[in-house]
Amino acid sequence: MPAIKLIENIFWIGVNDRTTDLFEGIWPITDVGVSYNSYVIKGEMVALIDLAKGIKTDDYLTQVEEVVDPTKIDYIIINHVEPDHTGLIKIMSKVAPNATFVGTEKAKNMIADFYQLEDAKNIKWKVVTSGDEISLGKEQTLVFYEAPYVHWPETMVSYEKKTHVLFSCDAFGSYGALGGKIFDDDKGVDQNFYEEEALRYYTNIVAKFSRFVLKAIDSLEGLEISMIAPSHGLVWRKNPERIVELYKHWAECANDPSGGEAGITLVFASMYGNTNKMMNAIAQGIGKTGIPLKIFDAARTHVSYILPYFWKYKGIIIGSPTYEVNLFPPMAYVLDMAVRKRIVNKKTAFFGSYGWNDGAKRDFEKIAEKLKWTVLDTFNFVGGPSKEDLKKGEEMGEILANQILKSD
Ligand code: FEO
Repeated sequence: MPAIKLIENIFWIGVNDRTTDLFEGIWPITDVGVSYNSYVIKGEMVALIDLAKGIKTDDYLTQVEEVVDPTKIDYIIINHVEPDHTGLIKIMSKVAPNATFVGTEKAKNMIADFYQLEDAKNIKWKVVTSGDEISLGKEQTLVFYEAPYVHWPETMVSYEKKTHVLFSCDAFGSYGALGGKIFDDDKGVDQNFYEEEALRYYTNIVAKFSRFVLKAIDSLEGLEISMIAPSHGLVWRKNPERIVELYKHWAECANDPSGGEAGITLVFASMYGNTNKMMNAIAQGIGKTGIPLKIFDAARTHVSYILPYFWKYKGIIIGSPTYEVNLFPPMAYVLDMAVRKRIVNKKTAFFGSYGWNDGAKRDFEKIAEKLKWTVLDTFNFVGGPSKEDLKKGEEMGEILANQILKSD
């Protein structure tokens, strides 16, 4: 994509990545891609805000050159060190030899560690803390706000005072490559797609640091914002409040004692179809109540897609056979990820088939306790479920759904 003007003298450049399969080496993006947004401010002095992953270097340099002679870049702002934002740092330090890198003290040290730049500790750095400013001439001034743990401890955001554009880095970002358009109000942009991918991105990448997200949003309170220009996904020009509200809501969900919205995520796994049969019976019971229900097979669905529903629905029902003497491994992985992402305060239940030891249920109960999940019911059965078992499962599903619907 060629460079795109954001507002007078500010340009989007960036890498639209449709070839990486796993973001951070773990989260699937094959179908949707991701963008690494980078921005140029052309004042009397020139600032480049964030870089990109170290791919498509030629395309990136071509975009930079469309807007500015790289040797005229005065500042390269490093809001965040994770390599999806800094992979091009070695090449940029060569093609922009007059640039001073700007970031927090931690960022400076992390860049040296990540890139083993022999002279990294000696490259021109301006260390900034919250409230520090850099004037780009008579017109533009950048001011920086530290935003630790949104996403790493060194992270900050940058704000241009004249145009009120917030360069928010990972905050307010989403998966989803850009389809030739970068703004929320561009004709034909599917905002729902980016909002859904923003939630998946949030739960995969940022969720664990939700209290820091709220802190960062609080610290920006009162700042006039005309546009939110994150490092991933759409630039929010028409309605920047929308993505802030969504992020605030998701961050608040982290400690919501109610567990979230009325809805159930039913995750099951099955070795020979017995737990699967019970899943269908339970789903049938749940279906009688009309509560939103999302069903996933833990062995066939990447946890990246399960986490958003864990996050937003207050009900989580787990169906797992006992494998040897523990949880079925794909289910153990899903629940381990729930622990890592701190999916707390849910209403839950467990069911599953076992042969000679009901270890899956024991493992589940330990995890539920750790995550402060309220266990409403459990239902284990030996081997295949009988007719009576399935009837009981259907009733259990309806009762659970009603309990979850009525719970605060
Ligand atoms: Fe977009 Fe934390 O990296």
